[in-house]
Amino acid sequence: MERRQILVTSALPYVNAGIHLGHMVEHLQTDFWVGFQRLRGHDVRYFCGDDTHGTGTMLRAQREGREPEALLEDMRAEHIADLSGFGVSHDHYGSTHSPENEALVAEFWAALRAEGHIAEREVTQLFDPEAGIFLADRFVLGGCPRCQAPDQYGDNCEVCGATYEPSDLIAPKSSITGAIPEERSHPHLFVKLESFHDFLDEWTQTPGRVPPETANWLKATFLSEPLRDWDISRAAPYFGFEIPDAPGNFFYVWLDAPVGYIATTKQWCDANGARLEDWWCNPESEIHHFIGKDIAYFHTLFWPAMLSAVDYQLPSAVHVHGFLTVNGEKMSKRKGTYILARTYLDHLSPEYLRYYYASKLSAKVDDIDLNFEEFIQKVNSDLVGKVVNLASRTARFMKGEALPEYPVETDGGLFAAGAAAGDEIAAAYEARDSNRAMRLVMALADRANEFVESREPWNLKKDESKQDELREVCAIALNLFRQITIYLAPVLPRFARESARLLSIDTPTSWQDAATPVAGHEVVKFKHLMERVDPEKVTTMIEASRESTEASEVEAAVTGNSPEALAGEPIEAECTIDDFTKVDLRVAEIIEAKAVPKANKLLELTLSLGGNERRTVFAGIKKAYEPERLVGRFTVVVANLAPRKMKFGLSEGMVLAAGPGDSELFILSPDSGAKAGERIR
Ligand code: 2FM
Ligand code: ZN
Repeated sequence: MERRQILVTSALPYVNAGIHLGHMVEHLQTDFWVGFQRLRGHDVRYFCGDDTHGTGTMLRAQREGREPEALLEDMRAEHIADLSGFGVSHDHYGSTHSPENEALVAEFWAALRAEGHIAEREVTQLFDPEAGIFLADRFVLGGCPRCQAPDQYGDNCEVCGATYEPSDLIAPKSSITGAIPEERSHPHLFVKLESFHDFLDEWTQTPGRVPPETANWLKATFLSEPLRDWDISRAAPYFGFEIPDAPGNFFYVWLDAPVGYIATTKQWCDANGARLEDWWCNPESEIHHFIGKDIAYFHTLFWPAMLSAVDYQLPSAVHVHGFLTVNGEKMSKRKGTYILARTYLDHLSPEYLRYYYASKLSAKVDDIDLNFEEFIQKVNSDLVGKVVNLASRTARFMKGEALPEYPVETDGGLFAAGAAAGDEIAAAYEARDSNRAMRLVMALADRANEFVESREPWNLKKDESKQDELREVCAIALNLFRQITIYLAPVLPRFARESARLLSIDTPTSWQDAATPVAGHEVVKFKHLMERVDPEKVTTMIEASRESTEASEVEAAVTGNSPEALAGEPIEAECTIDDFTKVDLRVAEIIEAKAVPKANKLLELTLSLGGNERRTVFAGIKKAYEPERLVGRFTVVVANLAPRKMKFGLSEGMVLAAGPGDSELFILSPDSGAKAGERIR
């Protein structure tokens, strides 16, 4: 087989948000494919990194009172920990905010300019006079011009689905400061996409480049009419790269993001004595991007257009997947189905999700559903019931013994059939049809289990005269098990490693290993290779997801940011003295404090507001305070906050605290002398 050189990427996650199980569809799909190609002996590099630029990053850093770079560093570390927690095996995880990326972007820019692909014209946009920034659509809120629903974003209405310009909103206001925006003009730079029309038509419609569904959608939606110019500049202030020949203007985040694929490769090359040209300017090198359908437009029109202006290579293929739904619906924070990668990893094994996603994914752009009942059932019945079972029912009879020569004549052709299936399974992996690959592998597991059942090693064990036969049966079952773990290795690399240890053999490094049985190695004591999924843990994880949303709301309240602000949209509206006096702040004595079971962040406080007045308040300060330490302390409470029904009970007020969150939260206390119930003025 010819050794291919393959460069693979997953879309670069936005730095501003945590990785959730929706992201994991893509990162795992990519990792399965990468793992498969490595096992086939190809020369594979897998790159990803954070997508860092934009107004959102700038505002969040301002709000947190730190430099954007510090924010980027923390988030990148978090993303790396989450992705590697799921076993995602990048060769390098970079960032778009790097000198390498800036230099490459300048190279693309010079080429686009030199070839006359750039136009300049005035753009009129809403401007926040207080923040001094032009407002992207999602930073403008107002009434929907069609259905009058309040607080809709500047581009479309979530209630009636209308699309419009931000200036069409009824009483628009800036979501950053609450100011009434003004219309202002500013010169913008555009890539004249239409000059790439013929090239893009040909490129996207060539079979194999993009999935057929995407090719048809591109043709029907964009390529059937002239392509609109693409606005790639943003006026200062903006967190990004300044445009070299247009000071005071910055490249729009989507211009530098895909260039990040090359920059990340460059960083890896520099650190490993390799040459960028060998990967990006070499017709022998394949380039594969894995992305979600929501960003297909950028990767199949803008990105090839940009690449065609420079000497870097076009992607060999852009692989597009659909969205994730959970239990048949869009992920929902309220239902606890907006699950962060970290929350999942705190409760469940990454291998469960790897297998489950593999069993759901194909090369189709269709959405996939994470149904927890099916998740539990599939993992327990396929992985534990079929695959692990094969080893657990036989390895114990061979403990401490070497596997005998493989008895080819007595296995009913099972090993040879399994070896022959290798090509079909490989073809399914190659085509990213992991659903089919998993079905084929499970069919092998079924046959192997039927063999074990028919030969009943547990009965052979009881008969002194049948010990050789027992060894034969075990050698067959354990070799079939090994064959299966090799076929599963792209999806379950840890499992493949630990299974090899059971048989005292090296971790399989080649697909071909599945074609030859092993003998002579000692079978070590069987220890559980995978536990059944405990449905309780799934429930706890969902509760924890719901709770972290609730806690972030509580925390948002105590730190003065609304939940929207924590999600990246700050609200720092001015407050008049009249507004302020509406808030009934009181001194309260904490008379009881206890942890809320199953809640990571919440304490339940009973407060005295003087006399017999008691309040129950849930506060997101569990990580900062031992409950006992709080009893007897005085603090400040918002006494006239509308009661909030939470999962754990009714919260009748809000305790004030300062600090960035989690273990660093400090409740406010009055000086000694203040009495419970006294109003703060
Ligand atoms: O949609 C997203 O999450 C983007 N951050 C993906 C960028 S992919 C590439 F172009 F960098
Ligand atoms: Zn509407």
